Amino acid sequence: MAGRRVLLIVGGGIAAYKALALTRLLRKAGVAVRPILTAAGAQFVTPLSLSALAEDKVYSELFSLTDEAEMGHIELSRSADLVVVAPATADLMAKAAHGLAGDLASTTLLATDKPVLMAPAMNVRMWDHPATQRNLATLKGDGVHVVGPDEGAMACGEFGYGRMAEPEAIFEAIMGLLEGPAAGPLAGRPLSGRHVLVTAGPTAEALDPVRLLTNRSSGRQGYAIAGALAKLGARVTLVSGPVSLPTPAGVDRVDVESARDMLAATQAALPADAAVCVAAVADWRPDEAFGLKLKKGKDGPPTLTLVENPDILATLAASGPARPTLVVGFAAETNDVEAHARAKLARKGCDWIIANDVTEPGVMGGEENAVLLITREGIERWDRAHKDQVAADLAARIAKALT
Ligand code: CTP
Repeated sequence: MAGRRVLLIVGGGIAAYKALALTRLLRKAGVAVRPILTAAGAQFVTPLSLSALAEDKVYSELFSLTDEAEMGHIELSRSADLVVVAPATADLMAKAAHGLAGDLASTTLLATDKPVLMAPAMNVRMWDHPATQRNLATLKGDGVHVVGPDEGAMACGEFGYGRMAEPEAIFEAIMGLLEGPAAGPLAGRPLSGRHVLVTAGPTAEALDPVRLLTNRSSGRQGYAIAGALAKLGARVTLVSGPVSLPTPAGVDRVDVESARDMLAATQAALPADAAVCVAAVADWRPDEAFGLKLKKGKDGPPTLTLVENPDILATLAASGPARPTLVVGFAAETNDVEAHARAKLARKGCDWIIANDVTEPGVMGGEENAVLLITREGIERWDRAHKDQVAADLAARIAKALT
């Protein structure tokens, strides 16, 4: 990465402190960082900290004679390989979407001819507001890359989407863009230009407004696979049931609850080159979700009737123009792993099944996995490994199959 240059615009938000950690990561990787600090940003981090970590001067004034004498704002906007906005506040996003140019940061965004990556950070209501979502769509339409935001607890005490992506995730997204087309698809990013759909986590099936049928899936293996595919350059849509995991770098996440919502979200994300169904979808749901909380009564406990949920893997694998080229399913088995997995491959109509024996200690909910890869051609036994390693190996196999 030596010789690569990032122009880092730091907006005004509590997440500005993460821009300092990001600057360190970039400098450690040999990337030059030239910071622009907005007036609001300077309320959260000081020019001195940013300048010391970036090992460069901090730019903040549009009409600064000294800055202009050394480097005009147009030149500044073109002086990097990539412009990164972190945190990208609602205000900065709105200015950039509308082409406003009243200060140095917005003028730079309007004048640049370089790719732009934004890491939004704001209160959840501001993020959800139709104006911000409209601006986001406009920016994406203009070719702006976006990483995050994540879901979680916010400095303002609310909960939801709006937390800036972690510095490591922004760093990964920057690396992807810097390596990107310049290095060519063969330089470690064989899935560039490919879209892969991943389902992960459990589903939750409502019984009434306060009760659910769900399972213990942590989502860890599916999230690791989504992250590994993104690292290889794929555009990844991760359709996720309720889990408490951060979104992997470079992954677009769609949150759902029920199996039916998960099916609808996967279908909305098509077309895809590959689909990897890792989710532990609830096989059944209550036939009726009560609008009001069920109360104890003299009739004793209610009797639940369950109905079968749609099979997302089988639906994606069904032949038709929208079928992904490669459809991969998972099978968690407790006995006769190979035979059950083979039967599942045939029944679901998918191309590969990744099977594991969940009775092995430390696999269910743990860090490691020991899997069999079953294809129509044969079977491979993979050594027991960390779930991240299994994810990386599977992503590499998918890349090989698609290229
Ligand atoms: N799957 C799915 N939709 C469902 C059920 C399962 O997409 N409604 C997917 C899972 O994501 C996984 C694969 O199908 O990739 C295997 O799931 P599993 O529940 O083990 O398969 P079943 O068909 O339910 O078989 P059984 O319960 O008999 O083992």
